[in-house]
Amino acid sequence: MATIIATTRPLPLPEMELAGRQVRFVHAEAGAVPDGAVALLSTAVDPVDAALISTLPDSVGLIANLGVGYDNIDLAAAAARGLLVSNTPVVTEDTADLAFALILAACRRVGQGERFLRAGKWNETGTPPLGTRVHGAKLGIIGFGAIGQAVARRASGFGMTVLYHNRSRKPVQANALSARYCKDLAELLAAADIVSIHAPLTEETRHLIDADALAACKPGAVLVNTARGPLVDEDALIAALETGHIAAAGLDVFSEEPSFPEALLAMEQVVLTPHIGSATAQCRTDMVQRGIANIAQFLETGTIRDMVPLGRE
Ligand code: DGY
Repeated sequence: MATIIATTRPLPLPEMELAGRQVRFVHAEAGAVPDGAVALLSTAVDPVDAALISTLPDSVGLIANLGVGYDNIDLAAAAARGLLVSNTPVVTEDTADLAFALILAACRRVGQGERFLRAGKWNETGTPPLGTRVHGAKLGIIGFGAIGQAVARRASGFGMTVLYHNRSRKPVQANALSARYCKDLAELLAAADIVSIHAPLTEETRHLIDADALAACKPGAVLVNTARGPLVDEDALIAALETGHIAAAGLDVFSEEPSFPEALLAMEQVVLTPHIGSATAQCRTDMVQRGIANIAQFLETGTIRDMVPLGRE
């Protein structure tokens, strides 16, 4: 008999055996997870809400989420069903690479310059609008977990001054990265030339960057978000971009993915990417391997390496 693992979408998964049995991956279309499935393998952009969790057969013991974030999962519903939840904390460096790419692209108006050149405007009108200097700038990092710290490491190569805001102070890591703690978000926003968001999405962080936070930013600041769309009030950001108070933005994540506000499309000063922080062939392979490793460990021992806290102690 095969070991059945349900998936929330079709995924390119290799043939494999787990605990001595062939694995059969079954795409659970419309949430219909077959009886006998031992785990649900989900991606970080597929909602695993209370309704889906309530329909899982009793054979399922684990939700193995592909992604470091797990805001797509109703953890209370998972806890109530006695399920374990795992994540894949292997996206740090790839996501930090993308954050830095967006910092550079937004500040230096790379997309706008490329569109300008491709549209044949170079000869006609000279150069496109000037960008913002990156090297030596003050970078404000919101959320100083593994990804925020990896961005700080990259910033040191650009001679940047790094400030960070985090729920708790991280003196050891901050000292190693010469990063200064701002307990108050407003203090960081007032000082930073470039703000990069790396906080998890929770009820406390939803719309962390709202109209007031944007108003607290330095005039001409650049905002980059590679974390989760709902951390930013998109309407407020669009308004701040329209006035020029926020000079440019690099956005990889949106509140209603795969949709995004139409208004952003017309904004030359905004760089838009479709949630690709972890989208390198190598990182996606690492994520699948880590997700499967969690399932394998769960089948063998009933425990998992990357345990997501469910708050049910
Ligand atoms: C993550 O790891 O949470 C990413 O957003 C998924 O690609």
